[in-house]
Amino acid sequence: MSTFAARMATVQPSATLKVAAEAERLRRAGHPVVDFSAGEPDFPTPEHVKAAGKAAIDANFTRYTVVAGIPELREAICKRYKSDYGIDLTPAEVLVTVGGKQALFNTAMALFAEGDEVITHSPYWPTIPEQVKLVGAEPIIVPTGPADGFAVHADKIINAITPKTKAIILNSPANPTGGLISEQTVRQIGEAAAKRGIWTIIDLCYEQLIYEPVPHNLPKALFDTNRERTVLCGSASKAYAMTGWRCGWTIATREVTSAFNTIEGQTTSNITSVTQKTALAALTGPQDAVRVMLDEYRRRRDSIHSWLTAHPGIKCVKPSGAFYLFPDISGLLSSDSGVKTSFEFAQQLLEKEFVVVTPGEAFDAPGYLRISYATSMEQLREGATRILRFAESIQPAKAGA
Ligand SMILES: Cc1ncc(COP(=O)(O)O)c(C=O)c1O
Repeated sequence: MSTFAARMATVQPSATLKVAAEAERLRRAGHPVVDFSAGEPDFPTPEHVKAAGKAAIDANFTRYTVVAGIPELREAICKRYKSDYGIDLTPAEVLVTVGGKQALFNTAMALFAEGDEVITHSPYWPTIPEQVKLVGAEPIIVPTGPADGFAVHADKIINAITPKTKAIILNSPANPTGGLISEQTVRQIGEAAAKRGIWTIIDLCYEQLIYEPVPHNLPKALFDTNRERTVLCGSASKAYAMTGWRCGWTIATREVTSAFNTIEGQTTSNITSVTQKTALAALTGPQDAVRVMLDEYRRRRDSIHSWLTAHPGIKCVKPSGAFYLFPDISGLLSSDSGVKTSFEFAQQLLEKEFVVVTPGEAFDAPGYLRISYATSMEQLREGATRILRFAESIQPAKAGA
């Protein structure tokens, strides 16, 4: 008999965290590692946010809070969604979570069970299907491709619906592609879901990190079409360089929020009290830091994109949001070179050039690499040089051409 519960047989450990751990091991061993695996901003948390954390400690704001999160933080989240998206919320529809990850997890726990199918799109952030499996449901994957910038098409999602479909999970801007889902698509999906009593869940973790001013009012598209069965999952992590503080939230009906509250109350309780004060400062204070970081990500995106795509074997859609480049390197793979898969490419790149990237296999997209450009321009330049050198080294015939 297995030691572990049956559910453990279906769930994979986080591949992205595994790559990050390997990078750390090599760094500790003294190697000149260039790390493109980070799923987090390299910027420090803004000063006024840190100050709010220090003030909270000094004021001994260090006890349990209500599970859902302090009222002023939930109020601030409501105001933010009103000003950003024009949607009306009450604090009873908001629950503060340990990052966007727990927002999605509470959702999976409360809504999915054995026998349910949950549709999502690939390439995906692996946590999305893994959490579906963790609660005994089955992820149904609808692939997207580079020809149209990894666009999610409503008809493909709707065609995947069966009588077992419980929910559709969308992610925009998406990790790892940086693609955005259009309002029209989300509206169509919302309408189809409403007709069939299916839940629509959207992971908006990168919602503040969109490079061009394109319409992206996905919360409104879902509220207009499927209000009663929609869950919005947000996070302070990426926009405010607050990954370690751990603050996210769900927005759903009062009834669903109450179910989330029960789950959270029996698992983690409230998120760290001090973090709640910092998230409040982040959401209600000056937003300049977000713009500064976005401008810098844009500069980095344009640079690394142009450096890498100069190689004829590397093709890459320019991401519209988030901070990942997702190049197609299938043109560099072959059985003669000994590098047949993107997994092998990433492994050998690490061994030979100490550059850490996440292979596309982790996102259900073999033939691709995920390169996080949440790192300095110097590191990007150095890493790109090493990647190009490695690409040449595995293509001896073409190298001299
Ligand atoms: C698509 C996506 N959603 C959610 C998260 C959750 O982040 P956090 O738990 O730090 O809010 C991440 C983190 O990498 C992500 O990439």
